[in-house]
This record gives sequence, structure tokens and C-alpha cells, in this order.
Amino acid sequence: MGVLQYYFSMKVLMWVLVVFVQIREHNGCLEEERIGLLQLKSFLMSNPYTSSEHLLPSWVEDDSKSECCGWERVTCNSTTRHVIELSLDNLKSSLGNPYYYTPETVAEVWSLNVSLLEPFKELRSLDLSLNAINGWIVDEGLENFSSLRNLESLNLGYNFFNNHSILQSLGAITSLKTLNLTWNGLVGYFPAQALVGLRNLNTLDISNNCFNGTLPNQGFERLAVLKNLQTLILDENCFENCFDDSILPSLSRLTSLTTLSLAKNVDLGLRGNGEGGWESLSRLENLEILDLVSVTSTRAVFYSHLLQSNP
Ligand SMILES: *[C@@H]1O[C@H](CO)[C@@H](O)[C@H](O)[C@H]1NC(C)=O
Ligand SMILES: *[C@@H]1O[C@H](CO)[C@@H](O)[C@H](O)[C@H]1NC(C)=O
Ligand SMILES: *[C@@H]1O[C@H](CO)[C@@H](O)[C@H](O)[C@H]1NC(C)=O
Ligand SMILES: *[C@@H]1O[C@H](CO)[C@@H](O)[C@H](O)[C@H]1NC(C)=O
Ligand SMILES: *[C@@H]1O[C@H](CO)[C@@H](O)[C@H](O)[C@H]1NC(C)=O
Ligand SMILES: *[C@@H]1O[C@H](CO)[C@@H](O)[C@H](O)[C@H]1NC(C)=O
Repeated sequence: MGVLQYYFSMKVLMWVLVVFVQIREHNGCLEEERIGLLQLKSFLMSNPYTSSEHLLPSWVEDDSKSECCGWERVTCNSTTRHVIELSLDNLKSSLGNPYYYTPETVAEVWSLNVSLLEPFKELRSLDLSLNAINGWIVDEGLENFSSLRNLESLNLGYNFFNNHSILQSLGAITSLKTLNLTWNGLVGYFPAQALVGLRNLNTLDISNNCFNGTLPNQGFERLAVLKNLQTLILDENCFENCFDDSILPSLSRLTSLTTLSLAKNVDLGLRGNGEGGWESLSRLENLEILDLVSVTSTRAVFYSHLLQSNP
């Protein structure tokens, strides 16, 4: 065979390979991600809280090997066939409303093995809310959250996270636009510094935890570098403690905010309207929605006047 012929047959072979790969991709999800989903299911089956014969019934090994884009709770991009969304909220669907968490639920809290998310490199949205998760297993040497390079929305609400270090790990997901940590057991100061790398962050929900205003040097003003941050939900951090007025000057630096919710923080509004009190918030020029439900009411009313006279 001449050099030229060899060259052309190699070229044809390459084309066949490319076309083959494309056809495979268009027919179903990618093999690596299908295996990843099955490994994730097998982990969840080995976990007392999620283990059930009714868990993810469509996630099964079969001969066609390519239909996982049609599996429940999985969404693929219709062009690339990559998994882009995993809606793994309330895996134990019978759990229902978080108010019904029983002592048994608490006894079964579990940690998610983060390495299992590594195959989903194009994941945009991950919902793990309502699952009694209280931590992560990060295998040494394996990639951690930083492998989720495209993740834009992460919902960890209604779980049992009680350790600040979770925020440190999440700080590596620089693509995040929405981070939801509502209804967890995070206590003490809010470690804002851990999140300053999230330059795309638009919405942060840390309502219904036990954060309070201690350690002002870790304050919310650190988030002022997040120029896309528009929505900040701090409701009801009162399971044990509350935000008090000491956070107001710090919040007043977050000038990109359009929505700020401080509802049900009963220690807010005690210092009054002056410098260091509600007046500081008048610097938030872009603010459209301010939720102060159940905050000391006369001050809240006063502030809403301030907003109107200062458009
Ligand atoms: C699917 O992927 C293509 C190519 O990367 C991209 O242009 C498109 O916006 C994606 N669609 C969705 C719904 O993410
Ligand atoms: C976590 O998952 C990875 C990938 O499947 C596996 O290699 C590792 O052993 C798991 N770690 C634990 C503690 O289960
Ligand atoms: C895990 O993430 C941190 C950033 O939070 C990074 O510094 C570290 O190198 C990562 N570890 C691995 C094993 O990828
Ligand atoms: C929080 O997590 C970190 C890192 O995993 C660990 O070193 C620390 O002991 C934990 N703190 C508590 C109070 O559990
Ligand atoms: C956070 O997640 C909970 C549970 O899914 C949801 O009810 C809430 O609206 C979310 N917060 C934001 C700001 O989207
Ligand atoms: C804030 O929370 C931490 C941890 O729960 C606690 O030690 C501290 O006393 C609280 N501070 C206030 C002012 O309530």
C-alpha cells in the first residue's frame, strides 16, 4: 500500500470513528455518565436513608445501554446528550414536608460521596434538597466540587448541614449562579469570605439556619465583590440565634442587590433608624424588594418611607 493510500484509508477510518461517536451521542446519554448514574444509584441503595426497592426504578442496567437521558430525575442536553440536570430532591418521597422530620430521619443523616458527581462535567443544575444529608465524603486524590465546572444551580435546602466547612468546598464552584442552603443547621457567624470566588453568584438563600451577627470581620460586606449578586435571602435565622442590627451596615455594601429578605429575624430593628441602623440600607440603590415581615414593625414601616422618598 502506497503512502498516499495509507493516508486516505486512515482519514476514512477517522471519519467513520467521528460519525460513530456522534451517532452514539445522539441516540442516548454518554456511556461514562450512564455508568456514573448507576454508580450513584448503587451508592444510594447502600445508604440506609435512601435505600428502597422503589428508589429510581427507571435507573437500570439494560442491553440498549443508551437510554439514560429518559430516566426519571435526569435531563440531558438534546444536542450534546450530556446530563445537564439532576433533580434528586426528596429521594425518599414519602418524607413529604420537612416539618414531619422524625427522630428516625435525624438518626439516618448521611454524607454524599462527592466523587460520584465527577462524571457529570456538563451538569448545570443539581437539586439535593429534602434528603437528610449532613456532609460530604471527599476522597483524597479524587476531584472535589471543582470538577463541577458548569454547575449554575445548587439546591441543598432542607438538609442537616451543620458545619461551615461546606461553604468552603462550595466556594470552588465558580460557575454557580444560585446557591440554596435554606433549612439547614448552620450556626454562628456567616463565613462570607468562603464565597468571594463565586463571581457569577446571583441568588443566595441562607434562610432558616442558626446564623447570627457575631465576628463582624467575617461580615456580609465581603460579598460586595460579587457584582452579580441580586437576591439575598436571610429570613428566620432564629432557630437558636438571630441576625441583629450589626449586619445592616455590612449589607449596605451589597449595592447590586435587587431583593433582600430579612423576614423573621426578631432581633433586627432594635437600634433604630440612624447610622448603623436601617438608614444604612438606603445605599442599596438597586433594591426593588425588601422583605421585613415580623421584623420589629415600626422601624420597618419607617424604612419603607425612606425607600419611597429616596428612589
Ligand atoms: C445544549 O448544548 C448546546 C451545545 O453546547 C448549546 O448550544 C445549547 O444551548 C444547550 N442547550 C441547553 C438547553 O442547555
Ligand atoms: C466514593 O466514590 C468513588 C467513586 O465511585 C469511590 O472510588 C470511593 O471509594 C467512594 N468513597 C467512599 C468513602 O465510599
Ligand atoms: C478541592 O478544592 C479546593 C478548593 O476549594 C482545591 O484547593 C483543592 O485542590 C481541591 N482538591 C482536589 C483533590 O481537587
Ligand atoms: C467541620 O468539618 C471540618 C472539615 O471536614 C472538620 O475538620 C471539623 O472538625 C468539622 N467541625 C465540626 C464542628 O464538626
Ligand atoms: C430554596 O429551595 C427551597 C426548596 O426547594 C425553595 O422553597 C426556595 O424557594 C428556594 N429559594 C430560592 C431563593 O429560590
Ligand atoms: C452565635 O452563634 C454561636 C454558635 O452557635 C454562639 O456561640 C454565639 O453565642 C452566638 N452569638 C450570639 C450573639 O447569639
